Amino acid sequence: MCGIVGALAQRDVSSILLEGLRRLEYRGYDSAGLAIINQQKLERFRALGKVQQLTDRVPLDQAGKIGIAHTRWATHGKPSETNAHPHFSRDRIAVVHNGIIENYREIRENLLAAGYEFASETDTEVIAHLIESYYEDDLYAAVKQAVDQLRGAFSLGIIATGDSPALVACRRGSPLVVGVGIHENFIASDVSALLPVTNRFVYLDEGDFVVLNAEGYALYDSAGKPKELEITVSERTGDSTFKGNYRHFMQKEIHEQARAITDCLVGRIDTTTVLDSIFGSESEAVFTQLQNIQIVACGTSYHAGLVAKYWIEAILGISCQVEVASEFRYRKTVVPKHTLFVTLSQSGETADTLAALRNLSSDNYCGSLSICNVPESPLVRESSLVLMTRAGPEIGVASTKAFTTQLVSMLLLVISIGKLRNLNESRIASIVRELIELPRQIEQLLRLDAQIELIAEDFIDKQHALFLGRGEHYPIAMEGALKLKEISYIHAEAYPAGELKHGPLALVDSEMPVIVVTPNDELLEKLQSNMQEVKARGGKLYVFAHQGAKLDQSGDDVVVEMDCETSWVTPILSTIPLQLLSYHVAVLRGTDIDQPRNLAKSVTVE
Ligand code: F6R
Repeated sequence: MCGIVGALAQRDVSSILLEGLRRLEYRGYDSAGLAIINQQKLERFRALGKVQQLTDRVPLDQAGKIGIAHTRWATHGKPSETNAHPHFSRDRIAVVHNGIIENYREIRENLLAAGYEFASETDTEVIAHLIESYYEDDLYAAVKQAVDQLRGAFSLGIIATGDSPALVACRRGSPLVVGVGIHENFIASDVSALLPVTNRFVYLDEGDFVVLNAEGYALYDSAGKPKELEITVSERTGDSTFKGNYRHFMQKEIHEQARAITDCLVGRIDTTTVLDSIFGSESEAVFTQLQNIQIVACGTSYHAGLVAKYWIEAILGISCQVEVASEFRYRKTVVPKHTLFVTLSQSGETADTLAALRNLSSDNYCGSLSICNVPESPLVRESSLVLMTRAGPEIGVASTKAFTTQLVSMLLLVISIGKLRNLNESRIASIVRELIELPRQIEQLLRLDAQIELIAEDFIDKQHALFLGRGEHYPIAMEGALKLKEISYIHAEAYPAGELKHGPLALVDSEMPVIVVTPNDELLEKLQSNMQEVKARGGKLYVFAHQGAKLDQSGDDVVVEMDCETSWVTPILSTIPLQLLSYHVAVLRGTDIDQPRNLAKSVTVE
């Protein structure tokens, strides 16, 4: 979603800002802009489309030692150059904004009555005018007065012309970090934007303000009281935001999965079991008393939760509910006693998931656990227990390695809980062995790449596709369908195979590819009957068949044999060929794979 970068330095900052925006491209956006103060005057460049288009408009020798920049993902007002940030007020104030101002209409009315003219359809422009209405010579004071009137979840970066240049930023529900340099300081919505200029960051708390000026930076809490926060040294390098020899980030991230899973396991298991307290020192008490698990997540992370439900109920015999966060957060729920609340999130800043956590009110919750890929993200900071997935930065909008490491983390959770509740030791050891084997098996499955690339050609002109699965492969079918639709723009639906004849079978004809993953388990026979139903209607089957899954094949079927035995980790393995299929179909259809249209990597608004 929208990205913010800002800088105050002793050197010209336009190239720092543009590089920062380029590194935020993966979050998803539709336009970009930059404002700089040059010789006491605000100068602005904006462009619809990619950061490169903006870069082409900014002179190479653009001067200015203080500036803000933004990638916009439209919420209020269509994607256009005039709606792109930064927004100005009376050529004195420039504002970039992530998030949504809920009460912008009434503020706009008041500002119109006070004689302000609006140039855009955005909610952001009211902020610029409101700050301007209070601004004399203290930018922080004006920003504070304005922010106190705003409702919503947002973060802001503001610069103003005046005698003593300053950049003010604040965080209210949308992430913001301060990058600390040597005689230069920065702000950004994501550390990755600033990795070329610093590895020292201050993570603002909710409601905080920061003022960057010639002397350094100063922090204030929401009441305006000066405060201090620790500087965190990031171990991330700028390199993780480069594709290397891969054509797309998504492709790189698919191929990184064996490594990502190894990283997720290192130091957390030995050869027979999961080590103690990997979920934190308080986890033992929580895991011993829990009687129910509630998982909340969005999108791909929600699918990981759905798979985990099968594991939790089958292996632990503990009841588990899974719900999308946007529904859960607004629903009156009945919470069984001793419920563990689990959020799954790659980014750790998904607005709905975070709100679900923040809204928990029942005393029946015995703890909150965040399974997340981004340290220092709000979900991680606000949960009582945490396990980092360690997938490494995921840049492609379509989640791949974040999903498989979430699944691995959920199996670690199942074993950790099981250990404290008399789960048979040999059963634990056998799941651990499967986890240890997983990276090697994934490497093997990635060798299907060329075969799947050929199959992808069948999908070039397709408009629709159906994915079928049973048991824990139903959520994997959902994930396969989500991947295909988001990056290839082919309409794809997933169904539990048994539901086919209750409606979706009406859609099946020779134009409808039907994709099935067939584990060699007790549901195979039932799945075979569903596949026959498809064939009898002229549908074409694409089958990803696990070792030993004997199929009633016919000449038309496309069968990809997967060299993997059926086990607890099978859903993780089955994900790999479906990711490859979506990727290759999207390549052939020429879509923007890493930044699919209308989508954002971090969904920080509802
Ligand atoms: C799809 C995808 C999204 C995210 C969803 C939740 O490939 O990436 O569906 O899974 O937006 O995001 P996180 O996991 O960051 O909470």
